Amino acid sequence: MVMQDWSETDLVSVIYFVKRSGVFLETSAAKIESLRGAVPLSHFFLRQRVCPGDLVLDATCGNGLDTLLLAVLAGEGGRVWGFDIQPHAIAATRELLEREGRLAQVELVEASHDRLCEFVPAGLKAAVFNLGYLPGGQTSLITCPESTVSAIGQAAALLKPAGIITISLYTGHQGGPEEALAVESWGASLAPKDFNVWCSRQLNRPGIAPYLILVERIR
Ligand SMILES: C[S@@+](CC[C@H](N)C(=O)[O-])C[C@H]1O[C@@H](n2cnc3c(N)ncnc32)[C@H](O)[C@@H]1O
Repeated sequence: MVMQDWSETDLVSVIYFVKRSGVFLETSAAKIESLRGAVPLSHFFLRQRVCPGDLVLDATCGNGLDTLLLAVLAGEGGRVWGFDIQPHAIAATRELLEREGRLAQVELVEASHDRLCEFVPAGLKAAVFNLGYLPGGQTSLITCPESTVSAIGQAAALLKPAGIITISLYTGHQGGPEEALAVESWGASLAPKDFNVWCSRQLNRPGIAPYLILVERIR
């Protein structure tokens, strides 16, 4: 296993087809992305669930890495919606998708994700919320509890059965703990007959390490 320093935003470990500095486990058969943080764990679940032709959503495009994974998994027959409030995040995502030949099936929306139900139809197979601030950008511009919870609620209403939402939460910045609490309370309020809601933390990391909430629609 290749070791690499852990960072709060945890976004350097990315998907195998983006030629960047991912952390991989070498096996005799293949290179496997190490589950070293919330984002790789989110990718692991997305790879399990998203199939060619699916409708999927990236609620926080940032640098476009999650959007790219969704575009690859949903394939040319699928459809991806990507939201961000920062013009340069939308531009960076567009550039990455274009470079990887995946722009055609993606609709990028420069708007807050709490408006997603205006743009996205029902029948989503997956929605990704990678919260906090844009790595390499303005650290004061962060996702906020009210709009985040509203957006996650809208995404949950648009999920098809077996559809999932992955939510990567960061508590190391100002405002992060409040947002994480708001998301946890929202998740705890969902009826167990309709949704499975999981919380995954790394027990051998500091308390402020990013963690993942996974929501699955049952029916
Ligand atoms: C941690 S970054 C996302 C990283 C990204 N998914 C990637 O793969 O690079 C969080 C992003 O959320 C965006 N954001 C903040 N508030 C938002 C909102 N209300 N609606 C949509 N995006 C928002 C920020 O501009 C930032 O780009």
